[in-house]
Amino acid sequence: MPWRPMTAQDLAQAQILADTIHVDHPEEAEVFAERLRLYPQGCLALEGDGRLIGYALTHPWHFGKPPALNSLLGEIPHDATTYYVHDVALLPEARGRGYAAQIAEKLACHAKATGFGNLSLVAVNNSQGYWERLGFHTRSVPGLEEKLLSYGPDAVLMVRELAQALS
Ligand SMILES: CC(C)(COP(=O)(O)OP(=O)(O)OC[C@H]1O[C@@H](n2cnc3c(N)ncnc32)[C@H](O)[C@@H]1OP(=O)(O)O)[C@@H](O)C(=O)NCCC(=O)NCCS
Repeated sequence: MPWRPMTAQDLAQAQILADTIHVDHPEEAEVFAERLRLYPQGCLALEGDGRLIGYALTHPWHFGKPPALNSLLGEIPHDATTYYVHDVALLPEARGRGYAAQIAEKLACHAKATGFGNLSLVAVNNSQGYWERLGFHTRSVPGLEEKLLSYGPDAVLMVRELAQALS
């Protein structure tokens, strides 16, 4: 699988990808750097022909309280209640080959192994249908409407329950 752990050397290229892919959701370089520093296990790079063609940024968080876009986390909470998928983004030429589905499964395994009962994310760019195919469903959380709007008019909170790990 061409996914590998992200390193600090990937940050500049990841930022270029993000600026290209998420034109309506710009985030500062420090947002990427902080997530890599705080939770490197959840930051992955997709490489093709020696260059970055996608990335994933994920980390434990509070369920139903997605961080505002372009904001720093400060720290990973000790009482996290969800494994949060902040962003999965692939260049157009890397799409349609199952790479995103692969990383979603890898993240689900990691989340389960580290004790989480669900994955959650805010779907943007009309990606809701994509995440539904991967087992996510929308979840309405009272009071979250305004924050979701800041992600864009189509943004929805989605959750995928993870079956209990065998003990
Ligand atoms: C969303 C994204 C990560 C999916 O990557 P991908 O490589 O296309 O996904 P996969 O190869 O695993 O799956 C491809 C399948 O999903 C479908 N699909 C892709 N995007 C979709 C969408 N937005 N809605 C519904 N289905 C979608 C494809 O049609 C394809 O279907 P098929 O297998 O029947 O041909 C990618 O399109 C992307 O990077 N988009 C821009 C960034 C983004 O919006 N990220 C999500 C932020 S929440």
